[in-house]
Amino acid sequence: MAGYLPDDFIDTLREQTDIVEVIGQYVELRRRGQSWVGLCPFHTEKTPSFTVTPSRDMFKCFGCGKGGDIYSFMMDHQQLSFGQAVEQLAGRAGIPMPRQTGAVSDDSGRKRLFYANEFAGQYYHGLLTGGKGGAKALDYLKKRGLDEKLIAEFELGWAPAGRDEFKNAALGHGIVEDDLVSAGLLGVSEQDGKKFDRFRNRLLFPIRDSRGRTIGFGGRVLDDSLPKYLNTSDTELFHKGEVLFGLDKARGQISRESTALVVEGYMDLLSLWQAGVRNVVAPLGTALTSGQARLLARYAKEVFLLYDADRAGLKATFRGGDGLLAAGVAVRVVTLPGGQDPDDYIRANGREKFESLLAGAEDLLERKIEILKRKLKLEVVSQRELAADKCLETVARCSNELVRELYMQKTAEFIGVPQSVIAERLRRVSEGAPRRKSGAGRSGDKAAEKKSTSAGYLLALCLRNPEYIERVQEKLGRDPFERENHERVFEAMLTAWEDGVRNIGEALYTNLPEELHPEIARLREIDDLEPAGEVFDRAWRKIEIGRIEERIRAVIGGKDPEGQSAREELKTLRDRLVNLQRELPGACWLIKN
Ligand code: GTP
Ligand code: MN
Repeated sequence: MAGYLPDDFIDTLREQTDIVEVIGQYVELRRRGQSWVGLCPFHTEKTPSFTVTPSRDMFKCFGCGKGGDIYSFMMDHQQLSFGQAVEQLAGRAGIPMPRQTGAVSDDSGRKRLFYANEFAGQYYHGLLTGGKGGAKALDYLKKRGLDEKLIAEFELGWAPAGRDEFKNAALGHGIVEDDLVSAGLLGVSEQDGKKFDRFRNRLLFPIRDSRGRTIGFGGRVLDDSLPKYLNTSDTELFHKGEVLFGLDKARGQISRESTALVVEGYMDLLSLWQAGVRNVVAPLGTALTSGQARLLARYAKEVFLLYDADRAGLKATFRGGDGLLAAGVAVRVVTLPGGQDPDDYIRANGREKFESLLAGAEDLLERKIEILKRKLKLEVVSQRELAADKCLETVARCSNELVRELYMQKTAEFIGVPQSVIAERLRRVSEGAPRRKSGAGRSGDKAAEKKSTSAGYLLALCLRNPEYIERVQEKLGRDPFERENHERVFEAMLTAWEDGVRNIGEALYTNLPEELHPEIARLREIDDLEPAGEVFDRAWRKIEIGRIEERIRAVIGGKDPEGQSAREELKTLRDRLVNLQRELPGACWLIKN
C-alpha cells in the first residue's frame, strides 16, 4: 500500500471506526464516565492509566504519555505502516479503499463540493438577514420565536424565487457549474439540459457533518405548498441516512451528559436549542437509520426519543429505538401530550416543564408493553403470544447483555411465563427456526404478506412509470410502506422524481447503498404489470385493505382510546373494507364477519 490517500477518506474512516471496539481487541477496557480505561499496552503498569475517549477519537496513557488516534495506535501497537493501518481498518469497516489513480483529483473534487456548499450557506444567509427579499422569511422565523442569535448560529438562509439567482451568484464567484450540480445545489432540466437553482422560495437549514462542514440543506416553504420540506438529494458529500442535523453543535453537550434527545424536525431542534436544550439532534425526516444510531452511540449512552404519538411517529419510535439498542444505547420514550411536537410543547410550557417531561420518560420496552396492553386483548392466548413476539423483536436487538437480560425478565413478567420460556423463544427467533404459529400470528402474517406483495407491485410500477410515484404517495399518505426496504426504495424514488430525474432505476442504484441493490433488481424483474392503471388501482387498494384489517383486529382486540366508540369505528371500518373490496378490479370477495 503506497501513495496518496485523500484526507477526507482518512477522516471518514476514523469517524466510522469505533476506537473502543478496535483497541478493545488488544487491551481489556472498562468504562469510566466518558472514557474507557485499561492497562497500558505500551508500558508495564499495575493500575490502569491508559484511556480511550471515543467522543474525541483519541487514546492517551497518563503513565507513559503515549497517545494519538486509532491510526497511531494500530501503527505503534501492531507495527503497521500508516497505509497498512488504514487498509486494515477500512477492511474491518467494510469501506472500499479509494482508487489510487485520480485520488488527488477526487480529493480536490470533494474540497470543491465543500466549498460550493460553504458559499451557498453564506449566500443564502446573507439574503435572509440582508433585508429585501429575505425579510418575509426573517419575519416568519421571528414569529416562530427564533431570535437573531440563533439564526446566525445556525446560519439559516433564504433562497429567492428565481430559477438562477443563486447560480449566477455562484458562477460570478468563480464556482464551476458542474460542481454546483454535483453538490446538489443546482438541478438539471430534462427538456433543455439547463441548470437551475434547486432551492427556490424556501427557508434553508444548512446541514453539517459532525465536523461542522456544510454538506447539504433542508428547505421549508413558508406557506402550504408542497413538498413542505425539500432536502439536498444524496451527493458525494451528503448521505441522508448518515447525517444528524445539529450533531456538529450538540455533540459536546451530548458527550458531557452522555445523553441525547432525538426530535423529528429542524424546527423542533431549533426551538429546543433556543430554550437552552443543547443535547439534541434530528434525523432528516425519517426514522433513525442504523447508521445514525451508530453515530449517536459514539457520544450518548442514553437516548430520549421525542416523536409524535401518531401511528407514523410510533413506528419511527420503535424502528429507531431498536436500532439504538443494537448500537448499545439505552432508549427512553417521551410522550408529548395532545399531538404536540417538541417545538409546540416547549414554546407553550417552557424549559422547566419540558425537563420534567423528560424525567418522566419511559423505557422503550415499557412503552411498548404499555401500548400492547392497550391494543391487544391479552386474556386471549393467541394475542398474548403475539405480544410476546412484539417484545422479543426489541429484546433481540439489544447488544448490551445486561439490558437484554433485564428486558427478558420484563417480557416474562408481562406475559406471565417463566423467563426460561422467553429465553428459549428468543433463541429460536434469533436463529430463525420455524415457530409454531398461533391463529392470530398466521392471519397477521398473511395480511403482511399481501401488503408486501402489493407494495412490490406498486414499486415496480413506479420504476417503470415514474408518473405514478406521486399518485402512490397521495393514495397511501406519509407512511406508504411497511417494510423498511420498500420504504427506503420508495423514498429514493420520490427524491429522484422531485429532483427531475427520469431514469429512476439508475438513480436508485446510484443513491441507495449496495445492500439494497438486490431488492431493486427484484423489483425490476417483476413483469406482469399490464395495464398500469389496473395494477395501481389494485395494489393500493390491497394495501389499504390490509391496513383496515389490521385496524379491525386491533379494535376487536381491545379497548382502543382514539375517537368513536369501538363499535362505531368497527362499522365504519367494515364499510370501508367492503367498498374497497368491491372496487378491487378483477376480483370479488365475500366478507366474513
Ligand atoms: P413545522 O411544521 O415547520 O413545525 O415543521 P415540523 O418539523 O413540525 O414538520 P413535520 O412534523 O411535518 O415534519 C417533521 C420533519 O419531517 C421535518 O422537519 C422534515 O425533516 C421532515 N419532512 C416533513 N415533511 C417533509 C416533506 O414533504 N419532504 C421531506 N423530504 N421531508 C419532510
Ligand atoms: Mn412543528
